[in-house]
Amino acid sequence: MSKKAVYPGTFDPITNGHVDIIERSANLFDEVIVVVAKSAGKAPLFELAERVELAQRTLAHLSNVQVHSFEGLLVNFAQQHQASIVVRGVRSIADFEYEKQMAGMNQKMYPALETVFLNPTALWADLSSTLVRDIARHGGDVSDFVSASVLSAISKKSS
Ligand code: COA
Repeated sequence: MSKKAVYPGTFDPITNGHVDIIERSANLFDEVIVVVAKSAGKAPLFELAERVELAQRTLAHLSNVQVHSFEGLLVNFAQQHQASIVVRGVRSIADFEYEKQMAGMNQKMYPALETVFLNPTALWADLSSTLVRDIARHGGDVSDFVSASVLSAISKKSS
């Protein structure tokens, strides 16, 4: 049976840390859907459509990865797309408590859904979208942390 996984997040913007998790998921599963959540509560820098487009450009080299936007419950999206796995990157103990709660609640709502935790490579262990936005806002160089498409979109936003 084909294994379809979803990798949800806000991706404001997608970073090399996310790409690392997605590339590894694409090796583990037949299909991976990167699910870009609206996350209106986070007041994102990039509009939802921009975040989807940046993820699509950044992930164009991965033939079994698609990018979708979504608003609502992740379990509903997973069910609608016949996905039985949620992938989450856990960078630290601090991430883990929240991740454990989300995985538990998602499984209560959709018992067939398994959450798989991947440990990002040490290179990206301290990376987050917030830090990338903050460094860029203060004129720092984020070219080591994001794709060329994201870098160009960030420089347009800050000019
Ligand atoms: N490398 C680098 N950064 C990473 C990373 C990795 N491997 N994994 C996570 N991050 C960063 C993200 O960039 C993000 O940084 P930021 O907060 O500075 O922007 C941070 O870690 C948190 O990311 P994440 O855990 O993906 O949170 P999120 O807000 O992006 O996404 C959802 C959370 C969308 C998955 C979750 O809220 C959800 O499922 N919402 C839908 C509603 C729902 O179903 N709710 C019920 C849940 S039980």
